[in-house]
Amino acid sequence: MIKISPSILASDFANLESEIRRIESADYVHVDVMDGLFVPNITIGIPVVAAIRKKTRMLLDVHLMIDRPVRYVEEFCKAGADIVTVHVEADTEENTLKALDMIHGCGKKAGIVVKPKTSAEAVLPFLDKCDMVLVMTVEPGFGGQSFMWDMMPKLKTIRGWIDERGLDCELEVDGGIDTVTNKVVIENGANVLVAGSAVYKTEDIPARIRELRG
Ligand code: DX5
Ligand code: ZN
Repeated sequence: MIKISPSILASDFANLESEIRRIESADYVHVDVMDGLFVPNITIGIPVVAAIRKKTRMLLDVHLMIDRPVRYVEEFCKAGADIVTVHVEADTEENTLKALDMIHGCGKKAGIVVKPKTSAEAVLPFLDKCDMVLVMTVEPGFGGQSFMWDMMPKLKTIRGWIDERGLDCELEVDGGIDTVTNKVVIENGANVLVAGSAVYKTEDIPARIRELRG
């Protein structure tokens, strides 16, 4: 079963509680955390995650686009994140492994993210520790960008490794997912689809979520 993780980056931040209620038929709430350093944009931080936690029982899928996330992963877990993903490009291999262990130490799910220019092989040192791998299908930083079709071989390769090793690891895609591109990411092995614009820029959100499941 394909899961949908709507990105609240495309929602109305002044009305987050009701905006999250509109996506209740989805599986996760995707929360894009940006620090203005790892990516050229600043969005949501720890207090906002804690505030959201108080208003919903949905699982919070927190995508950290921050430099050296090992510094903050425990605080995001304490704030109520259920899944925390960190970028492999954001720190050394040693610190990334440490971040994954810290997330697990908090009893939460941990994952890694690869930017478009990062190879599939970059996930290998972390794969056995991951509950999720996120393959970016746009450059991280902004919603509403065009889907990068050339990421499909990378997605397929990582799906192959997860299956070969029999890992209990979700494979998520993020960026430019709509009712056309959902089909190709599902064909190439994704099982969790993040969608910002495609979910929030439509009238009938539950229908769109159903459609995105493919
Ligand atoms: C981009 C974010 C995405 C973004 C996706 O850096 O990680 O989660 O919100 O937005 P859409 O679905 O509009 O491409
Ligand atoms: Zn994201």
